[in-house]
Amino acid sequence: MNFLSVTDLTPDQLAEVVALGLEVKRDPASVAGALSGKTIGLFFAKPSLRTWVSTDIAADQLGMHPLLLPGAQVGLGSREAPQDVGRVLDRYLDALGMRVFGHEDLVAVATNMEAPVINLLSDREHPCQALADVMTVAEHRPVEGSVIAFVGDGNNVAHSLMLAATMLGAEIRVATPPGYEPDPEIVATARSFGTVVVTDDPAEAVAAADAVYTDVWASMGQEAEAQERRRLFERYRIDSELFGRAADDAIFLHCLPAHRGEEVTDEVLDHARSRVIDQAENRLHSFKAILLYLLR
Ligand code: CP
Ligand code: NVA
Repeated sequence: MNFLSVTDLTPDQLAEVVALGLEVKRDPASVAGALSGKTIGLFFAKPSLRTWVSTDIAADQLGMHPLLLPGAQVGLGSREAPQDVGRVLDRYLDALGMRVFGHEDLVAVATNMEAPVINLLSDREHPCQALADVMTVAEHRPVEGSVIAFVGDGNNVAHSLMLAATMLGAEIRVATPPGYEPDPEIVATARSFGTVVVTDDPAEAVAAADAVYTDVWASMGQEAEAQERRRLFERYRIDSELFGRAADDAIFLHCLPAHRGEEVTDEVLDHARSRVIDQAENRLHSFKAILLYLLR
């Protein structure tokens, strides 16, 4: 079984993994060494702080041997075809985490491996991030019945959040500039699970929401569009005024890294109800949970 998309889990399985993440956070000793003797490769074709560090430490604390596979070293699709990389790594590894540009590279590797492949971010999804996101909402209030607003680019992080939120019974509202909406296929899948609002009006998305989420306006690989996007996304910045339209006890979320002053102001990122550092911590616990779910 792979974890390339949030929808590789059923809603019940997703709830189980999130509950396991919360349990592992409360009692890390209960799973120390649980996967000892196993090896995970961690491949990164793009930079990372949280994902790299948290996956390495999660694997180590479960007794696994984490092996960093730098993208430049492997040359996925340039030095070697993705299907051959998959067939070879399958003879060495018990699991493979991959951060790639094109989601199709992930699929090409995964279809040539028996060992589980875990998406550590592609242009389509960031499912491990979504595990930490819903876990962080769950620490605030029950995810079921919550309203989560995502404001900004309809990107990989938005996609996985839309799926995870609706699968767990939350309403998701996504506000993007026209032309930057989430993938219609993901919107349709999320709608099959629950309530999805897609709008170009940030105030409509945020109104009385329980959690307000944003991400960078230009993702890794879109640097050339950054200047144009700064102009188009100006109205979508989360500032105190916009955050103030959410519920009185609303939390602020961001997958990080943040571009301070761009998609979010310092006041909101550093607000007493900002949970971004807890959210980053939860990447560690939730990654242990998905490893245990896939490998135990
Ligand atoms: N949120 C996240 O995936 O951060 P990194 O890109 O630093 O891993
Ligand atoms: N949407 C961002 C997320 C980074 C964690 C990107 O893909 O660069």
